[in-house]
This record gives sequence, structure tokens and C-alpha cells, in this order.
Amino acid sequence: MGVERVQEIANFSKETIPEEFIRTTYEQPALTTVQGTVLEVPVIDLSDPDEEKVVRAIVDASSNWGMFQVVNHGIPHETVRKLKEVGKAFFELPPHEKEAYAKSPGSQSIEGYGTKLQREVEGKKAWVDHLFHKIWPPSEINYQFWPKNPPSYRKNNEEYAKHMHGVVNKLFRCLSLGLGLEGNEMKEAMGGDNMVYLLKINYYPQCPRPDLALGVPAHTDMSAITILVPNDVQGLQACKDDHWYDVEYIPNALIVHIGDQVEIVSNGKYKSVLHRAKVNKEKTRISWPVFVEPPSDLEVGPHPKLVNEANPPQFESKKYSQYCFCKLNKTPK
Ligand code: OGA
Ligand code: NI
Repeated sequence: MGVERVQEIANFSKETIPEEFIRTTYEQPALTTVQGTVLEVPVIDLSDPDEEKVVRAIVDASSNWGMFQVVNHGIPHETVRKLKEVGKAFFELPPHEKEAYAKSPGSQSIEGYGTKLQREVEGKKAWVDHLFHKIWPPSEINYQFWPKNPPSYRKNNEEYAKHMHGVVNKLFRCLSLGLGLEGNEMKEAMGGDNMVYLLKINYYPQCPRPDLALGVPAHTDMSAITILVPNDVQGLQACKDDHWYDVEYIPNALIVHIGDQVEIVSNGKYKSVLHRAKVNKEKTRISWPVFVEPPSDLEVGPHPKLVNEANPPQFESKKYSQYCFCKLNKTPK
């Protein structure tokens, strides 16, 4: 297909990496990470019966960090384990089997197997391959992008999607109450039950120079919220007070990122988090973010109940599809 997968490049890169993967000194993780400190992003127990306490914790985390981890979230650990098992198995298939799901070069859709999404500063490449497909709602699903191999891929992904609703509803309810809105208003502003869950699998092969390369460069997610599960290889970093830190890996937690759409609807009270991912010398890192997004034709803007003369809107209202188009096609500063 003429596209070089990072997984293939990694197979013949034993000591060095191709020049296009070497980040500038402003980005190299070895030079820009605060060493010796692991960022303890807030950990929130979603099963706590004291809802006010949970709301306060989520408001604090979303305003000051844009990121938190949730435990006792109600998704069975076995469901998460099975999601990871089949995703890993897909990436371990021979190249021609994966290429059957490749995104076609001219395609407008984000779905499929691929190597690069965003144009990057100075033409640099990220050390990662990915697979994107929607997992919810059923009317939005294109099964052509769901691997048929391993055979349990579909069942395991459907089970994960089904269990996600509880967490998604709980998070939006708390985010909503925390702004003084009714419990359902934040979710409604994002399209209610028409919200789309877009799964991405990031496959970061082992890399001989993790000090020079990045798996994903610094960005905020365009989604409303992102719910991510990683394998057990640490690599996620968050930017806090202008410095980059490793995010602590907590077994069985879900990592929640506040995305741009929640920042917009909250009129800036909640912040989307600047984050990036490192790669590892000895181990393959894999992560499974689910981008919980408004439907593409829904217009999203600051919630009318949150704007008044004293609090003018800080963001333009835009259809979600238009927001994504503008962000992806923006010439990098
Ligand atoms: C992403 C992302 C981080 C990770 O894919 O948007 O931020 O830990 N991934 O893989
Ligand atoms: Ni991200």
C-alpha cells in the first residue's frame, strides 16, 4: 500500500531510529520530562455513595487537571481484560491481515487501520500505529472496520461498549451538577443518547530510542471526554503548570481526559488536558482510548445557562464535524 507501518520499522530498528522520528529538543521526552516525580492525578472512587463528594472531586480534577482516574467504575475487570486481549491479538496478526482493514488514503472517515492522523510540526512522525472504529451507537457502527480475527473481537468489544454507558452517564451527571446544571443537561448538550463512542487502539512498538521519539505528540482531545485503558506499560504524560510529568499507572483504573467539547460547553470552567505518550525500549505499549463525542452534525457551544453579561461566551459555537475539520487542518503554529 506504500504506507510504512511503525510496527515494521521497529522490526529493523535495533539501535537507531529513522530521522523523521527524532523530535526537536523542545519535545524530546528525555529533555522535557520532570524526572523523579510521578504525577498523582486525582483518583476518584465512582462507587462512593456520597454523590456530593464525588461531584466535588470531579469538579476539582476537571478544573485543575483536566484528567483523573476512576476506580470502582462498574466495568468488570474481565471485560477490560478481554477487550485488551483481542486488540493485542489483532496487532500481532501478519501485516497482510491487518492491511485488509486499512483506511483508504482518500477516505474522509477516520475509521480503519492506519499510521498517521495529524499533520505535525516539522513533518515529524509519531512512533505508533492505530485502529479506529466506532463502538456505539449501533446505527453508527461500520463492522467492515472491526477485525474478524480473532473471532471473539466483536463480542468482546460489544461487551465493553455496553458496560461503558454506566460510567459515561455517571461522569456527565457529575460534570453537569458541578456546574449548577440539572444532572442531564451536560449530556444533552453533547447529543444525549446519540453520543458516539469512537474506539482507538494505539499500538506503540518497542523503540530503541524512547528518549528521542514520542508515541503521540502533545495534544488535547477533540472529544467531550475520553476514557482510556492502557496495558501495563507506563507512557502517558500530562502537562501541569507548563511541565511534563509521567502519569501514575494504577491497575484496573480508567483514565478520564476532559476533551475540548466539555471545555467549550462549560465555557472554560473545565479544562481539556494537554497530554502526550512516550514509548518504551523493551516493551510494546498499547492503549485503548474511547472518544465520547457529540454526533458530527450537532452544534456545540457554551451552555446558555452558563453565559450572561458577566460571563460572556469564551468559545464559538460550531458543529462538531466543523470543529474537528478546523483543528485537524490548522497549519501548526
Ligand atoms: C490519544 C492519546 C495516550 C495514550 O490517543 O489521544 O492521548 O496513553 N493516547 O496512549
Ligand atoms: Ni489523547
